[in-house]
This record gives sequence, structure tokens and C-alpha cells, in this order.
Amino acid sequence: MLPLTVFWFAGEFKFYAQVAWWALTAVLLVRPLASVFPGLKFLRPLVMFRREVGILAGTMVLAHFVGFLMVNGINVFEYIFVARSWSLQSFLGWGLFGLVAAIPLLMTSSKWSMLKLGKWWKVLHKLTYLFFIFGGVHIYLQGEESAIISVVAVVVFKLLAHFKVKLWA
Ligand code: HEM
Repeated sequence: MLPLTVFWFAGEFKFYAQVAWWALTAVLLVRPLASVFPGLKFLRPLVMFRREVGILAGTMVLAHFVGFLMVNGINVFEYIFVARSWSLQSFLGWGLFGLVAAIPLLMTSSKWSMLKLGKWWKVLHKLTYLFFIFGGVHIYLQGEESAIISVVAVVVFKLLAHFKVKLWA
């Protein structure tokens, strides 16, 4: 429901982006954090909510894009069918590629899709990393350097979890 409020509050499209970014960071961070800090028992149940939080991230990015189009009075087709919109010279192009990565994730986010796709679901959902990287560069390039902190935190904790490092057992 929250993303739909963009039709009333299009001017707040940056707020939707912030929620999306924090939700996306949380989705990628919670499992390695739970593995590196097994002593923090509250993290374990949160791992089970990653799908729901991922849906929040995807729908909020969509709302961010819709708000951006509404505020600037741009027609979606006029925007996506112009080569300039996809240029990685601009922070907007990075955002658009991030959105493209988010769409198949959203389309296959249901339990039904998980069952239907089986092992391919996990493969497809690796797109989350593209969503995150394109989003991170988009945010960094438009002047918010804090995006690097999220990216570094995810990389560091993923590596620690991969090498089974335990910092707080
Ligand atoms: C992965 C997808 C995306 C993510 C994670 C994302 C996230 C963000 C974040 C966190 C901000 C900063 C908000 C603030 O200043 O509080 C932002 C700004 C912005 N985004 Fe995105 N965004 C994405 C895709 C897009 C797309 C597809 C567009 C439009 C084509 C877009 C257009 C903008 C604009 C215009 C700004 C404001 C820049 C400014 O203040 O000058 N974003 N985005």
C-alpha cells in the first residue's frame, strides 16, 4: 500500500528512494550479519523476512520512478524509448538500469513463483546484486556519498560470512 501513496505525494519521490535503499541494504546485510554475529539472536528471525523486505525495496523504487516522472511531467514511454535516458554518463541512467534489475525480481517475488521456478529462483534472484550496485552508483553520483558505506558493509560482511568468521558467538 505504501508505494501507492506516490500518486498523492509524488513530490516526496526522494523519500520513497530512501526507504527502498535502506530496505535493499537490509535484505543483503541481514544474513551475513546473522552469520558473523551468531550471539545477536534477534537477527535470526529477521533473515526469514528478506523476501517481504525485498518486495518493499522493489515497489518503493518503482514509486520513486513514478514520482520522478509525475513531478517532471514526463510520459513513461517518451522516457524509456529515448537512448539518452539509458546513458551511464548520468546518474539517472544508473538508476534506470537498477530499476530494470528490480522488475523481474518483483515479478517473481511470490511463493508461487518460488515453487514454479525451483532452483532457478535463486539464480534469478542474484539480480538483487545488480539492483544494489546500480542503485548504489546512482545514489553516489547524485551526491550522496553515504551509499558507499552500504556497499562496503555488504561486501565486508559477505566476505566475513563466506569465510565463516564469527565475531560474536
Ligand atoms: C535502483 C534504483 C534506484 C534507487 C535505489 C534510487 C535511490 C535514490 C536515492 C536514495 C536518492 C536520494 C534521495 C534523497 O536525496 O533523499 C535518489 C535520488 C534521485 N533519483 Fe533515484 N533511485 C533509483 C532509480 C531511479 C530512477 C529509475 C530514476 C529516474 C529515472 C531516479 C531519479 C532520481 C532523481 C531525479 C533523484 C534526485 C536527485 C537530486 O536530488 O538532484 N532514480 N535515488
